[in-house]
Amino acid sequence: ADQTFDYDVLVIGAGPGGYVAAIRAAQLGLKTACAESRETLGGTCLNVGCIPSKALLHGSELFEEANEGVLAKFGVKTDAVSLDLDTLQGEKATAVKELTGGIEYLFKKNKVEWLKGRAGFKDAHSVEVDGKTVTARDIVIATGSSVTPLPGVEIDNDKGVVVDSTGALALSKVPEKMVVIGGGVIGLELGSVWRRLGADVTVVEYLDQLLPGMDSEVRKEAGKLFKKQGMELKLSTKVTGVEVDGGKARVSIEPASGGDGEVLEADCVLVSIGRKPNTDGLGLDAVGIETNERGQIETDSIFNTKVESIWAIGDVIPGPMLAHKAEDEGIAVAENIAGQTGIVNHAVIPSVVYTMPEIAGVGLTEEAAKEAGHTVKTGKFPMMANSRAKTNRDTDGFVKVIADAETDRVLGVWMIASVAGTMIAQAVQAMEFGASSEDIAYTCHAHPTHSEAVKEAAMAVQGKPIHI
Ligand code: FAD
Ligand code: NAI
Repeated sequence: ADQTFDYDVLVIGAGPGGYVAAIRAAQLGLKTACAESRETLGGTCLNVGCIPSKALLHGSELFEEANEGVLAKFGVKTDAVSLDLDTLQGEKATAVKELTGGIEYLFKKNKVEWLKGRAGFKDAHSVEVDGKTVTARDIVIATGSSVTPLPGVEIDNDKGVVVDSTGALALSKVPEKMVVIGGGVIGLELGSVWRRLGADVTVVEYLDQLLPGMDSEVRKEAGKLFKKQGMELKLSTKVTGVEVDGGKARVSIEPASGGDGEVLEADCVLVSIGRKPNTDGLGLDAVGIETNERGQIETDSIFNTKVESIWAIGDVIPGPMLAHKAEDEGIAVAENIAGQTGIVNHAVIPSVVYTMPEIAGVGLTEEAAKEAGHTVKTGKFPMMANSRAKTNRDTDGFVKVIADAETDRVLGVWMIASVAGTMIAQAVQAMEFGASSEDIAYTCHAHPTHSEAVKEAAMAVQGKPIHI
């Protein structure tokens, strides 16, 4: 190691971006430390994001399958079904503990030193952590993001009446009526959890469709399916205020374009209108780094900021706020610091909403492809015509493949299907390898699998699916 500095690499933040960057840097022979102020490693994702939400989604889905007769439909008879929420929350906590503990083990195994405490820059090579100054040749900012507040609405996760995602993951009883502000990923995932467990859920969304950024056919179909499942959707609607009185909330709403308002009563309100980068208290002024109009730190394509020794990755830089994007950037930044060539293909990053059915996509939406000047041809295949979906009785949704009409290169794949989060991987890989829709159509897919719907949608681009 370079003796001028305490470390070769210091990473600030131990989320999926930071912990992966630290481990990779250590694997590449660099003396590495990672500063993290939370009690446990793993960042938002492992502590209050991806992992606990998926545990509750899984548990609530099992409850709904038993309670709504899906198990009975297949001849699995149960007595009256009841919910023990403490046990469900306990399983969630165990999964989180095992995984955050796993990162601590990986740090030890790879000799990454955990500096416990908040880090703030003093200069381009020095950071103060918990009152102590440490120096490093290269510093990676991986401080992630936190909840965007709704002006005038106070979040109090402890009381459990007006909560953000962290509070909504920890409710100790099932609310009777829940209002979700924001029909994005968090609102739909956590809204689904509590609806399945018995809450009446109303989603208030400012735009005219759910899930901005996704393909518009997928957004429309998702809206229909969530309604069918019993969620009430108030689209093109804005919240003008939330009043809390005792254990109840009154949410005032009105049409987004103005007009007569109404009041929704709720015993829990989830604010899920997006997340913002974490840069407060980081001391960016001391190193001359400014944030852009969205509060993000800008980097070049190798994740270097305008200061040579300072790099940035994950939710704190532009791009989708997703764990796998942060992880891939973590590997790439460590390789770049070590003098290798670390690249992330930002055009091919999948996104998945883990509701039932799951909603997934990669690449361009049809609208974005057209806007980018492509003439497109699309192929769609309904899950209703997929044999495995038929046998499993999970036929909601479809797969849509979008290809360039001239070259046949796949530009995007969007889908709604019970296992879309798993099915999207093959589309991601195909796009990474520059596949045409014909390549997918002529690739042998195991039968009977949900994935055959991807093949058939690609065949539909060619104009010749077999099963519809
Ligand atoms: P983070 O995970 O936010 O980690 C940053 C860490 O830095 C934090 O632990 C923080 O304490 C620490 N930190 C910040 N400032 C300092 C400082 N000055 N000094 C020391 N430490 C500091 N993404 C998916 O891909 N799939 C999902 O299923 C998914 N589900 C989600 C569910 C919820 C409810 C939420 C909220 C998010 C979810 N996400 C999901 C998004 C995902 O969690 C983030 O994209 C991901 O965690 C970003 O990783 P990161 O390393 O950039 O930052
Ligand atoms: P989001 O950006 O996905 O959705 C926010 C929604 O709120 C949008 O539909 C937006 O139009 C709406 N909105 C904004 N202001 C509003 C207002 N004042 N009133 C009503 N609606 C309003 O943000 P969300 O759901 O908070 O999630 C944050 C991020 O966390 C996601 O963008 C995603 O990157 C990440 N995440 C990823 C998950 C996954 O990969 N499965 C799961 C959960 C979160």
